[in-house]
Amino acid sequence: MIPPRTIFTAILFSPVFTAFAYQWPSPQYDALEQFVFEGTDHIGLDIGGVTRDCTHRDPSLKSTVAAEWVRLAYHDMATHNVDDGTGGLDASIFFELDRAENVGQGNVDTVTLDFSVSANKYVSRADLIALGVSWAVASCSGPIIPFKGGRVDALTAGRLGVPEPQQTLQSHTESFRQQGFSPSDMIRLVACGHTLGGVRNADFPDIVPNGDETFDTTTSYDHAVVSEYIAGTTSNPLIVVQDSTFASDLRIFSSDGNVTMNSLNSEETFKTTCSTLLQRMVNTVPNGVVLTDTIEFLLAKVSSAQITQVGSQLVFDVLFRLSQPPNVPVPPNRSVKLLWCDARGQFTNCNQRTNVASLPVAGTAVVSPITEAQGITLPTYQFAAPIDAAASVSKFWFQVDEGDGSPVQTYNNGGQGYIIQQDQLIYLPGISSFSLGNSGGINYNLVVGVRTESNPTSATLHAFDKGGVQSGPLTDITVNLVPVTIAGPPNVAPGYKTYTATVNRPSISTSLTADFQVIIDGVTYTEEFKQTLNIGNSPALDRTLSTVTTIPS
Ligand SMILES: *[C@@H]1O[C@H](CO)[C@@H](O)[C@H](O)[C@H]1NC(C)=O
Ligand SMILES: *[C@@H]1O[C@H](CO)[C@@H](O)[C@H](O)[C@H]1NC(C)=O
Repeated sequence: MIPPRTIFTAILFSPVFTAFAYQWPSPQYDALEQFVFEGTDHIGLDIGGVTRDCTHRDPSLKSTVAAEWVRLAYHDMATHNVDDGTGGLDASIFFELDRAENVGQGNVDTVTLDFSVSANKYVSRADLIALGVSWAVASCSGPIIPFKGGRVDALTAGRLGVPEPQQTLQSHTESFRQQGFSPSDMIRLVACGHTLGGVRNADFPDIVPNGDETFDTTTSYDHAVVSEYIAGTTSNPLIVVQDSTFASDLRIFSSDGNVTMNSLNSEETFKTTCSTLLQRMVNTVPNGVVLTDTIEFLLAKVSSAQITQVGSQLVFDVLFRLSQPPNVPVPPNRSVKLLWCDARGQFTNCNQRTNVASLPVAGTAVVSPITEAQGITLPTYQFAAPIDAAASVSKFWFQVDEGDGSPVQTYNNGGQGYIIQQDQLIYLPGISSFSLGNSGGINYNLVVGVRTESNPTSATLHAFDKGGVQSGPLTDITVNLVPVTIAGPPNVAPGYKTYTATVNRPSISTSLTADFQVIIDGVTYTEEFKQTLNIGNSPALDRTLSTVTTIPS
């Protein structure tokens, strides 16, 4: 048998997966892709890493973070009602933690610690819960579970619906039917969930009076939960239990005379079946919610690109991400160049000359458990090219020379170049600041640059922040941007003037992102989805300025 890792690597690097029509910029896709393959949110918080190496939240626990995440996703989905199309994987669990059917510190920790702050304009809480299943299973050597985004967060609790161990087989069968699963799906889904984790004494003292017990003898995502059952060696506490009222896994697993369990008793069948079924589980959403296409890995990605400032210097700030197959080192002589055309002045659109920035700062992006399981690494190249407002940037692309005699590779967004949509409005996090609010809380004093010659008839900021547990998802705060003179340094660069708006929050929120919008001569210009945590003299804004030359064109 070919090891699964080889299979998926072959898939990731196959033309099939690179043929889909992606074009930059695609903000929702870009944000979801970062979550899926880097495991990080809009401020770089390593959420996927919480389950790295199939770890335990606490060394005293027998169950893993992965088990908690898969359980939470099922409990959230369990409110689906196939009869009327309501409920499903919609983060209604944020309102349901106090229910007996959702007992457990694992659910509380997952909601309040892991998945409460990273949802944003493009990635819902429900998307994070669903992605948690893909991360969890991959982190424990399980199958790859392809991910789609686009889930919509509930604003209230859903119906009751999570099966409990003391209920009858008939009641469980009906619960799963209402969730959209047949009796044999029920058997499979329980097995696919119970290959991870176990039962905690704190939650079910009647079932495991002597302390926590796991469902099978392995931590990893494998078919041991099935093979140990079939072999009669299992110590699954929902099978081998003093009071048979609680033997719900036994009732479910044996409900069809063990036919389904026997069919799952191979590593390969188990993993293939579970990949499909867990996808169905996380894609069970309320009627009317439309999921995105599967989020595919981008072999090369513009992680970010904007005109902004480093200190008082106007720069073109670009982060370019490449990918490295397993066991292939990054070529030591690789040179990556950023090329771009002016948007203004005599050399507009590369008339006569093209700008070139070289010697980017090389780094490595964090990888999610999904990417890590494939052995793929993500080298990055950060450019901060000093530019002039009088020349600006219209479009850009990259050249990668491996320095080993192989042809130079050009990355140009499928031929058209990566287009900078506008330069009328730029976000200036380095000139933005925090201050204490007059009536309490924290003020975010966010600053943008508007081109000196432009006179906006409207200038606004929309800030999005997350609500807490027991409250709805995004808060949209709209504030007018007003002209301001900043007493630097840092000063605004020549060619731009500054506008500011203040957003007051009860405390610093890692979740807050900002969209800025100005209307100039009837045309709307937008800079959107900007992080607000790293502002002022934050080290995260540090850049080494790139060396810039020009070449004839
Ligand atoms: C199913 O398998 C289990 C475990 O081997 C066994 O105890 C049980 O008797 C079987 N049930 C049926 C109906 O075959
Ligand atoms: C890197 O460049 C050096 C100097 O030109 C050369 O000797 C070496 O063979 C190159 N290495 C690779 C892997 O191409």
